Amino acid sequence: MTISNLPGPKARAMIERDGKVISPSYPRGYPFVMDHGKGSEVWDVDGNRFLDFMGGIAVVSTGYSHPKVVKAIQEQAEKFIHISSDFYHENWIKLAERLNEIAPFKEDALSFMTNSGTEAVETAIKLARYHTKRTNFIGFTGAFHGRTMGAVTFTASKAKHHGGFYPLMNGVTHAPFPNPYRPVLERRKGEDYGEATVRYIEDEILNQILPPKEVAGILVETIQGEGGYIVPPEGFYPALRKLCDRHGILMILDEVQCGMGRTGKWWAIEHFGVEPDMITSAKGIASGMPLGACIARKSVMDWEIGTHGNTYGGNPISCAASLATIDLIEKEYLKNAQVVGEYAMDALEEIKSRHPSIGEVRGKGLMIGVEFVKNRETKIPDEEITDRTVELGFERGLLMLTCGKSVIRIAPPLSMSKSEMDEGLKLFEEALTAAENEMK
Ligand SMILES: Cc1ncc(COP(=O)(O)O)c(C=O)c1O
Repeated sequence: MTISNLPGPKARAMIERDGKVISPSYPRGYPFVMDHGKGSEVWDVDGNRFLDFMGGIAVVSTGYSHPKVVKAIQEQAEKFIHISSDFYHENWIKLAERLNEIAPFKEDALSFMTNSGTEAVETAIKLARYHTKRTNFIGFTGAFHGRTMGAVTFTASKAKHHGGFYPLMNGVTHAPFPNPYRPVLERRKGEDYGEATVRYIEDEILNQILPPKEVAGILVETIQGEGGYIVPPEGFYPALRKLCDRHGILMILDEVQCGMGRTGKWWAIEHFGVEPDMITSAKGIASGMPLGACIARKSVMDWEIGTHGNTYGGNPISCAASLATIDLIEKEYLKNAQVVGEYAMDALEEIKSRHPSIGEVRGKGLMIGVEFVKNRETKIPDEEITDRTVELGFERGLLMLTCGKSVIRIAPPLSMSKSEMDEGLKLFEEALTAAENEMK
């Protein structure tokens, strides 16, 4: 069943108003105009109901307006909305204590709270320079870390993000992200592709271009998000950790999209058995309230008073929402993300067997990417079928988003049930079949 005449009259009118007053730079997808949401369902202003496979770009971790999160926000709003980071309040401290408990390293953690993922990344960049007294960094192709001058320099998923904005930050060299489906480097016998990538960094970058003693940190999304939901090979992080240790370089993991329970563990790096020096978090950390954090080993976060700060850091409402979110993830949704994620991966493998346009299904927990290709042998990306499947999904009541060149990402609320997943996957396959038929 398709929803006829999308966008409806109310949505259409709002989109017209929006176009007159909102910056045209926002990369809008399809014409969805939100009215309200509950759990994994959302309704547009014309009363159409949709199932959500994208969770506000992997943000709405506990579903839309979870009653416990709403209550925490309401209670905090009645007490005070703001105090500024020049002073103290308990929810901020409690949140840092919780982050210390779950941080993916044994050493104690200190946290710097931010307003967004980008600001968390910016914080990590500054702290790495301050702590190491070195100026350079290594980032990765396909990365997305945000759009402020520092973060956008590392971002390398679309040239459009850089065009018109030079000069960017000095001192960032990009290495190829270890994408096992699309390798660009040669592997030696017995070497995994992640190890080959680290060898490339050592031999080609650190030996030939950038002396290691100039490198403050290596910044990498543990599982690449905007670049295509790419899980690096097993050997990558252990080898990268060793390289960082050899040269006194900080390992900085951007877990803004893949962290906070999305992959069925608190942090994606826990799948690889390695401890980083710093992580950045945001998106799912507060169910949609603006909040991010740069979480570092205590011995690394050694900057002096006044060297870095912000007005809204540790915002009371965001911290209250985050505490409620972390409780819910711990009690229910970490497990749910594992179980429903595995269930979805199996179902998608079955769907793949019926649709040759699917080249690969990959992911961990509820961070799943489905990559479309023109041909499984040549692996030429099929952007057309990807975009059309998303559009036709929308017309059938399913919200999806793309990433990379030709990938549909499945990043629903971590609370999504198996039956909702079934409903969504059915709509996904219907949309894909319709797109394939159109392109015959
Ligand atoms: C891995 C990663 N880092 C950083 C960011 C930027 O976060 P924000 O949009 O909250 O500034 C994003 C946003 O998509 C992201 O996916």
